[in-house]
Amino acid sequence: MSRIGSRMAAGSIVAIAALLCAGGCKQSDPVQAELDPYSSFVSKTGDIGFPSNFPSGFVFIGSWAVTGDGGVADIHSVYARPIDVVNFNETGRFLDGAVLVKEVTLAVGSKHTTGNAFWANETKTWFLMVKDSEERFPSNPLWGDGWGWAEFDPATKKQISTNYQSDCKGCHVPAMQSDWVYSYAYPALGPNAQATVPKDIIVGEPEAGAARHGGAVAQETGSDVDGVAQDTGSDVAAGKVTFEIYCSSCHSMTPGENGIGPSLAGVAGRKAGTSAGYAYSPAMSSSEVIWTAENLASHIEKPKELIPGNRMGGLFPRGVQDAKKRGEIVEYLLEAR
Ligand code: HEC
Ligand code: HEC
Repeated sequence: MSRIGSRMAAGSIVAIAALLCAGGCKQSDPVQAELDPYSSFVSKTGDIGFPSNFPSGFVFIGSWAVTGDGGVADIHSVYARPIDVVNFNETGRFLDGAVLVKEVTLAVGSKHTTGNAFWANETKTWFLMVKDSEERFPSNPLWGDGWGWAEFDPATKKQISTNYQSDCKGCHVPAMQSDWVYSYAYPALGPNAQATVPKDIIVGEPEAGAARHGGAVAQETGSDVDGVAQDTGSDVAAGKVTFEIYCSSCHSMTPGENGIGPSLAGVAGRKAGTSAGYAYSPAMSSSEVIWTAENLASHIEKPKELIPGNRMGGLFPRGVQDAKKRGEIVEYLLEAR
């Protein structure tokens, strides 16, 4: 509290923070006894506690809707402290002590006058990142790459992550260039946050809002989006879009470009675990599976099953449940050789 309090007292920041904190900005924390002076959520040994009056003391900075087969599956709402928003707008960076909280909620929907509209229901989990520019806790596995990384059980508010390298880092690799944070989705952070916007922006899905708002969408983002808005009827073209939605965060179709997952260029017909330069799990590299259309469909329907113990099973456990979408993706993988 004291450090945050004194930083907020500095100059022009006071007025802005006071405005954003209209609902009250009291900070309190579960590990108060042995706080590290740098953050009110962190103990001297690097344990990370959940801010107990959350969301009091935080401001909402942006949200994500993650789609599943029936529409929106999860809504993720992201919060920061007012001071972090001010600092990012001024400097383009998260300064030491900055806190980001992502609240993951189950989405439920029904037919509304706007269409099928989904809203945030029960909280599934909270993720929290605390900026640490000084490598304060080199031997604590929750700390590294400039941040403390934590996850909290929504019922007990207990910290449940054990190691950020295995629990968090892989999925944040695409945001490495922007200090591991997907900043472009947070309008409150201002133009500085737009430095790393993805090239392959998807605008809605054909059956949802995109068609209705198609005119404006197509003008803004060009040809790729036309495919989405108009539904070309071709499985391969549709498959490219569906691949972008479900697979491209981990897989590239450029030969040799390995990401979280291996490049899938030319995957059809080859033996599992053989893309050059990619460090496969033992499960996948020792597998005898050949990537036929049938095996591809099976692997993306239930990523844990065809090759038990492979890493995609843990990272993408739900797979693609919609048979039509699976079919489109497989067509695309077969054609794009
Ligand atoms: C399955 C992949 C995945 C895992 C595992 C994961 N994250 Fe994330 N995280 C993301 C993605 C993607 C985003 C942004 C989009 C979204 O929310 O879907 C994100 C966003 C966040 C945000 C909001 C700020 C930002 O970076 O945009 C926080 C905070 C966060 N994650 C913390 C964590 C922590 C801490 C862990 C580990 C305990 C973790 N994440 C594990 C994929 C993941
Ligand atoms: C969250 C990350 C993630 C997502 C999303 C993901 N994958 Fe994967 N995928 C992986 C990882 C990691 C591996 C390597 C697994 C291993 O080594 O155990 C993999 C492996 C594969 C393989 C085996 C490739 C080879 O060279 O043998 C195929 C095929 C595949 N994925 C297809 C897909 C398709 C199609 C999608 C989209 C429907 C998809 N994946 C979505 C992470 C992901």
